[in-house]
Amino acid sequence: MADKHRIQFEPVGIEMEVGEEEKILDAAFRQGIHLMHGCREGQCSACKSYLLEGDIQMERYSTFACNDAEVAEGYVLLCKSHAYSDCTIELLNYDEDELLGGIPIRTVGTRVAAIEPVTRDIVSLRLEPAEQFDFKPGQYVDLTIPGTDEHRSFSMATTPSTPSGEIEFLIKKYPGGRFSGLLDDGLAVGDEISMTGPYGSSTLKDGHVLPVVCVAGGAGMAPILSILRHLKETDSTRPVRFYYGARTAADLFYLDAIEELGVEFVACLSESAQGSDGLQVEEGNVTDVVERREPELHRTEVYLCGPPPMVDAALTLLEASNVPKDQVFYDKFTSPATSDGA
Ligand code: FES
Repeated sequence: MADKHRIQFEPVGIEMEVGEEEKILDAAFRQGIHLMHGCREGQCSACKSYLLEGDIQMERYSTFACNDAEVAEGYVLLCKSHAYSDCTIELLNYDEDELLGGIPIRTVGTRVAAIEPVTRDIVSLRLEPAEQFDFKPGQYVDLTIPGTDEHRSFSMATTPSTPSGEIEFLIKKYPGGRFSGLLDDGLAVGDEISMTGPYGSSTLKDGHVLPVVCVAGGAGMAPILSILRHLKETDSTRPVRFYYGARTAADLFYLDAIEELGVEFVACLSESAQGSDGLQVEEGNVTDVVERREPELHRTEVYLCGPPPMVDAALTLLEASNVPKDQVFYDKFTSPATSDGA
């Protein structure tokens, strides 16, 4: 057909087909090819690749993810790219194990099993999928906003082996948030929500042995909890330190669950340490605390999740600390899913 084109990925030698109306990253997922990605919204640059040959045009993207000079040179963001001819694309980042062996992305129906506030602005939402839903610790899904075609992205806080089969999400409430606004009185136990995924490359890598440093803030607790739970379930002996940034002790939650996971937990409180008796607390923002306490960051594997300014600050620190890029894992949620309030 005229509007279908062949895409050849180098240096891995994988081929696929894409229609002009479909974005290249989506076509790859549909065909079981798990290209590196993060936000899927042209904001994070995780999918940045190099066009060796062919005609690609991009939908609107952030120049922070791919600047004008890079675009002029031939760099493209595959999550925003449409092909208008056969193309050869060089992948700059890829995980060979994931590429053809990732978990297939699919859409399943779920029912709301519970909605419980855990702090003044974070809510636990538990969904019961209609069928077994597989994912890797650290991944996320798109949840459809009931009654619309829109979705919001949220990370799983549980692991696939959770006995109840339920999946938990931790959702920060924003004034006027399209999804989070439903959590007070727009959504009830038993309601149906469609879920698509799993997405995200910020997953725990089996077989790695370096000590693990987790850095999170706000609802970014979710994927880190999934990772920590998986480490516990698999009897991992890797040392784990978990730095969680919050404003005050009242913003901390799930402390008992974290203690049961046997990790070293450091609460980093930026406004006040009052009321945090019995906890290991450091005053200051989470990145500064990590800098103070982790002189050997380059000998660790770092998992990050939180608001974009926190992730940016942490990435700056990791770069200055010479942490190799392949020891750093994060999905920066800058998509409309969170930037306009989820
Ligand atoms: S820019 Fe494409 S996945 Fe984030």
